[in-house]
Amino acid sequence: MSIGVLFVCLGNICRSPTAHGVFLQHVQRRGLQDHIRVDSAGTGDWHIGHAPDKRTAATALRRGYDLSELRARQVLRDDFARFQYILAMDAENLRNLQHLRPASFNGELKLFLEYGDHPEYTEVPDPYYGDEADFERVVDLVETAAQGLLHHIVTRHRLS
Ligand code: 4NP
Repeated sequence: MSIGVLFVCLGNICRSPTAHGVFLQHVQRRGLQDHIRVDSAGTGDWHIGHAPDKRTAATALRRGYDLSELRARQVLRDDFARFQYILAMDAENLRNLQHLRPASFNGELKLFLEYGDHPEYTEVPDPYYGDEADFERVVDLVETAAQGLLHHIVTRHRLS
C-alpha cells in the first residue's frame, strides 16, 4: 500500500498547492510515485474547486513547478484514514487539524517546516495579502522542507 502525504493550509490556493507540486516533483524525480501519494487541502471552504492563486501559480512555474492541474478542496475527517503524513503550513492550520483528528490516527500530524532547515521559520507565512517576495519565500521554504520530508519518508519506509 502506498504512503499518503497531505499538505494543508487555509485556502488550498497558495501554500499547500505549492507544497503539493514541489513535493510531487521531488517524488517523481526519485521514481517513487508508485510508493508515495501526494495531495493537498485547505481547512477553509472559500476556494473549493478553484485553481491555485495566479501569483502562486506564476511563481511556482518560474521555479519549475506546474500547478495548473490542481484544484482546491477542503480537508475531511476521512483524510486521517487515507494519509499517514498530514503536514500543516502554520500553527492555526495545525490546531484546526488537531480538532478533526480521530483518536485512531497513528500517522504524523505536524508543522511541515519541522522538516525544513530555516530555523527562523517554523511556519510558512500566508502570502495572500503579501507581495512577490512573499510568494517567492513560500517556494524557498517549501523546497527545503520537501527535501527533508522526502528524506525522512525514504529512510523510515526503506524506499531507496
Ligand atoms: P493559503 O492562502 O492558505 O496559503 O491558500 C490563503 C488563501 C486565501 C485566503 C487566505 C489565505 N483567503 O482569506 O481567502
